[in-house]
Amino acid sequence: MKKIIQNGTIVTAADMYKADILIENEKIISIGNGFDTSDAEIIDAAGKYIFPGGIDPHTHLEMPFGGTVSKDDFETGTVAAAFGGTTTLIDFCLTNKGEPLQNAIDTWHAKSKEKAVIDYSFHLMIGEINQEVLNQLPEVIEKEGITSFKVFMAYKNVFQADDETLFRTLVAAKELGALVMVHAENGDVIEYLTEKALAEGNTDPIYHALTRPPELEGEATGRAAKLTGLADSQLYVVHVSCSEAVKQIAEARSKGLNVWGETCPQYLVLDQTYLERPNFEGAKYVWSPPLREKWNQEVLWNALKSGELQTLGSDQCSFDFKGQKDLGKGDFTKIPNGGPIIEDRVSILFSEGVDKGRITLNQFVDIMSTRSAKLFGLYPQKGTIAAGSDADIVIFDPDVERVISAEKHHMAADYNPFEGMKVKGEPVSVLSRGEFVIKDKQFVGKLGKGKYVKRARYGKHLSREESEVLQPSKS
Ligand code: URP
Ligand code: ZN
Ligand code: ZN
Ligand code: ZN
Repeated sequence: MKKIIQNGTIVTAADMYKADILIENEKIISIGNGFDTSDAEIIDAAGKYIFPGGIDPHTHLEMPFGGTVSKDDFETGTVAAAFGGTTTLIDFCLTNKGEPLQNAIDTWHAKSKEKAVIDYSFHLMIGEINQEVLNQLPEVIEKEGITSFKVFMAYKNVFQADDETLFRTLVAAKELGALVMVHAENGDVIEYLTEKALAEGNTDPIYHALTRPPELEGEATGRAAKLTGLADSQLYVVHVSCSEAVKQIAEARSKGLNVWGETCPQYLVLDQTYLERPNFEGAKYVWSPPLREKWNQEVLWNALKSGELQTLGSDQCSFDFKGQKDLGKGDFTKIPNGGPIIEDRVSILFSEGVDKGRITLNQFVDIMSTRSAKLFGLYPQKGTIAAGSDADIVIFDPDVERVISAEKHHMAADYNPFEGMKVKGEPVSVLSRGEFVIKDKQFVGKLGKGKYVKRARYGKHLSREESEVLQPSKS
């Protein structure tokens, strides 16, 4: 049955206007007024914003990590994402050295296929690069539509790749039309600092932050950017946490390099002092890169506003406090890294960003949806409200206030790092390809309804302006 959303204010990355939206067969058919309402389900969005569904470019659902497996899977993770206004996510598919890439991808399909309630895609981790791996990449792109490769510069002896691997990946990505993503921290020096801390008996969560100083994120970010310039390739730096890294990205962009940056809600509103909380509570706030000194938050917000950072990922990688985070009692290096964020990503950006006047409504849409669609080859199927696009839509009440709590959230993890935080604005209803997943704040979706989405090659959907990286404004 066709649907018509009436009386709402449509907001895209470029526009804001009042119009009705006609939806049929999963797509937005038309935007305008005076549609024939016979045989249509009418959705009244008076007083609400209508946003394109959020795109979360960075999740780790049911991922083996830190001696355990992240708690939220493609069921709880995508349900929580939908409640939070996200209708597409891109999860990181881990690979094992010496194993066919297709095996890893099949493992990820098996985890997600019958569970996801919203659409999803995969990035592929590159842990080694040799002729055998190179031979498989064209098929990964053609058959699977995976057009982004992730290289870890940290997690020594686990995921970390060396500079040769990164450089070869950048060269291959340029050739194939893929975007290289990096976790940018200097894993070798972190290894030295963590061994030293443990040898000195410094085992508390705060030492996680103290052994991964911002210099090491800045150094790795700058190194990756320079290698990108040398390879004439393209780079996306995930989870940027600090001023040192922002500076490196801004410098690379000012030279015209194709370097993009993502930050995460946790770095925008939490800080390093959280790791000092008593009774091992600090473990709840262990991410890599770590939470930083508070002043970095303003740098990150300014970078989102000026466009030096372009996207917001949740880096969803949740672990229970009891039974998972506590693996690291007495040794901070054994605390599983990550947290439950997927549900609150959009709300926090709206509340702290738009409501507090740090970014505009159009920037909000760009950061939470449109830019990721463009960078990762999903646009204009996803990431905007336009005739012909998938009807992935969030009906958002900007006035309602809510307090974030683990008791009320829909993620599986047993705590919420934003516990007690007041946010303004909340998704009321969320549609994925024209069907309600959330209706009047109730889950009405179906497991397995989310589809795997193949993505276009890098650059296909970037405008001239966006691909010729803009000079930062002088004002
Ligand atoms: O602490 C984090 N970020 N956990 C998830 C894995 C990663 O490095 O992105
Ligand atoms: Zn990472
Ligand atoms: Zn991550
Ligand atoms: Zn496309």
